[in-house]
Amino acid sequence: MALRTLITRKSLGLGLGVSQSVRGLQTVSLPDLPYDYGALEPAISGEIMKLHHQKHHQTYITNYNKALEQLHEAMEKGDSPTVVKLQGAIKFNSGGHGNHSIFWKNLTPVHEGGGEPPKGSLGWAIDTHFGSMEALVAKINSEGAAVQGSGWVWLGLDKDLKKLVVETTANQDPLVTKGPNLVPLLGIDVWEHAYYLQYRNVRPDYLKNVWKVIDWKYASEVYEKECP
Ligand SMILES: [Fe+2]
Repeated sequence: MALRTLITRKSLGLGLGVSQSVRGLQTVSLPDLPYDYGALEPAISGEIMKLHHQKHHQTYITNYNKALEQLHEAMEKGDSPTVVKLQGAIKFNSGGHGNHSIFWKNLTPVHEGGGEPPKGSLGWAIDTHFGSMEALVAKINSEGAAVQGSGWVWLGLDKDLKKLVVETTANQDPLVTKGPNLVPLLGIDVWEHAYYLQYRNVRPDYLKNVWKVIDWKYASEVYEKECP
């Protein structure tokens, strides 16, 4: 039977991307963006959004699904060296898919509320933990600009301590690699493919302008779920 006929679709947790069950393997596919590629201009160009989504994000998905199938085969054969060898590809590509799925949700056009500061309990928590929204933005921009090479800067929640944290991760490492209790609220991709056609080498300008299209709705929903 063709693999495609065995596929069923369902949403991943928190609506991040789409997973498919293929002979028991939960493979993933590219989630649609909730806005047009050009809708974030001039903060982020449509050309970059299209390339970033269709090429870069799709590549993580393709490689993750491939690694997952190889892992499945290796496990069935009891081929432990191959199981170990695949861990790096799985971490990198699964992280790439998950991180980008959050990133797309953290953005929205200005006319849809992009750039409006968070309201409600998350807004209060930011003031409590960082002093002000401006102080948080300055901290994220400074730590994001200091990431060497590819990586991410995050606003996360330590769900046990109920504390907001700013963290960075290298490459496509998800936030949970910095602590098992950390939940991502807001992630900003600081790898150059997020801005290179537009901002060239000037990452601080990208970080300054991205706030004009940041959507706090997702972050607020996750925060309120974890800290009711
Ligand atoms: Fe990216």
